[in-house]
Amino acid sequence: MRYIGNGQTRSPEDAARNIAAFQRSWAERGYGLFAVEEKQSGELIGFTGHAWPGFLPEVLPSVEIGWRFSKPSWGKGYASEAAKAALVFGVNELGITDIVSIYQIGNEASRRIMQKLGMIFDRRTLDPSCRREIEVYRLPPQ
Ligand SMILES: CC(C)(COP(=O)(O)OP(=O)(O)OC[C@H]1O[C@@H](n2cnc3c(N)ncnc32)[C@H](O)[C@@H]1OP(=O)(O)O)[C@@H](O)C(=O)NCCC(=O)NCCS
Repeated sequence: MRYIGNGQTRSPEDAARNIAAFQRSWAERGYGLFAVEEKQSGELIGFTGHAWPGFLPEVLPSVEIGWRFSKPSWGKGYASEAAKAALVFGVNELGITDIVSIYQIGNEASRRIMQKLGMIFDRRTLDPSCRREIEVYRLPPQ
């Protein structure tokens, strides 16, 4: 959670509220996050997919693509692989092409995933919720 919001970990109650909101997004917006499982073990290792970036009104109505993985699964290319699949699904199946991705300064692994997805630098700004510096990357017109 170091580079998410103010860096605080979630309480179990907050995590439960987050999960409920992740599920509602599919019903209310027609897009959302995917749970990611490691193929051989079936273990849940993280999530990736689309989210409404309401915390950053200046990028609306763009849709955000994001990712969060368990630490033991890092460094194996899973986040890049899953994010690419979610991006392609969003473009081809949902018609979502106005896509941004947002990371806090310092989160180089996340920035690298944005670059690998073909996204390009859009702007540097402040996250109004925690006043931390962030950069927005954007998918160029297809
Ligand atoms: C961001 C996150 C998903 C990346 O996971 P990962 O397992 O390292 O991702 P991948 O293995 O798919 O690839 C990451 C890429 O960044 C690179 N990378 C990893 N750590 C890096 C670092 N500290 N500096 C520069 N590049 C780095 C990797 O080499 C790889 O690029 P490559 O394929 O060109 O070699 C993971 O760190 C995470 O879940 N962090 C906590 C949640 C979070 O910060 N989410 C994003 C919020 S914007």
